[in-house]
Amino acid sequence: MSKVTVVGAGNVGATVANVLAHKDIVREVVLLDIKGDMARGKSLDSFQQAPIDYYSTRLTGSEDYRETANSDIVVITAGIPRKPGMSRDDLISTNANIVKSVTKSIMEHSEEPIIIVVSNPLDVMTYAAQEASGLSDEKVFGMAGILDTARYRAFLAMELNVSPKDIQAMLLGGHGDTMVPLPRYTSVAGIPITELVESSRLDEIVERTKKGGGELVKLMGTSAWYAPGAAAAQMVAAIVRDEDRIFPCCAKLNGEYGLSDIFLGIPVKLGKGGIKEVLELKLEKDEKDLLKESAEHVRAVIDVYKNM
Ligand code: NAI
Ligand code: 2OP
Repeated sequence: MSKVTVVGAGNVGATVANVLAHKDIVREVVLLDIKGDMARGKSLDSFQQAPIDYYSTRLTGSEDYRETANSDIVVITAGIPRKPGMSRDDLISTNANIVKSVTKSIMEHSEEPIIIVVSNPLDVMTYAAQEASGLSDEKVFGMAGILDTARYRAFLAMELNVSPKDIQAMLLGGHGDTMVPLPRYTSVAGIPITELVESSRLDEIVERTKKGGGELVKLMGTSAWYAPGAAAAQMVAAIVRDEDRIFPCCAKLNGEYGLSDIFLGIPVKLGKGGIKEVLELKLEKDEKDLLKESAEHVRAVIDVYKNM
């Protein structure tokens, strides 16, 4: 049974720990935060839910990295979230320093962990975590595509009044307004979405998906946590159970899609050891153009990071 550390005991981190405990698939979750008492409090609260919801996962909280020793998987959610009017990219200077220092501290106590980055701006923070950890490409990746496709799938379920369970979708690109939902790879119980929703309405749903994070920031004054936390926990589960799930994740590209030295959302096979395969979709010209535009945006933010 595995040991998982979640760094950052805020809205997203606490949700990851709690959802993961409910899956009852890892022995231990350590919640680490500079606010040690908050981490201790939230993990104690979560463990007190165990006799009610019936799980065995031990939860502990701390500010001390020694508690994270020998973690198999680390989820990094530390950093500031955006406020109304901010883009994810506005978080770069604060969060890059946090993600780098967190990653270095993790690596002092765990030899070859898998690192899943959640902190924003996601694609660039994943790049920073790999640089700071020195881990291989299969072991460092980011959570965004599962969340973004979940939003897209939820909007389609609302539109068609069907169960979200029956909606499948794929999405590429950076975790930002240039993300590329793919209607050609979207279906409802196997029925192509283009047969069920008119193209002008589908365009509106795709636009709402791209701005889905911002919609919630406007409503709540901070960014979302339930779906993001569940998405990161789903990635952990795929690894722990060696499921070989196909998910859109933020992964390092080495020539796939004509791109290198960049972390970007693409479909991967996730199982034991992390990313087992990067899947290269056969894109049409308009899809390739949108992916290129998204990659250029991410690269510009990586350049800001490199020049910091
Ligand atoms: P939050 O403010 O609720 O929690 C962040 C936590 O990080 C705080 O408890 C804070 O004390 C902690 N922290 C700050 N510096 C730290 C350090 N050096 N070491 C350990 N802990 C530290 O924020 P929330 O809502 O949980 O969001 C966390 C991050 O996740 C943000 O950057 C947000 O933009 C990002 N996010 C990314 C998503 C994605 O799809 N990739 C989705 C939702 C949020
Ligand atoms: C989201 O999409 C803020 O990235 C975060 O909700």
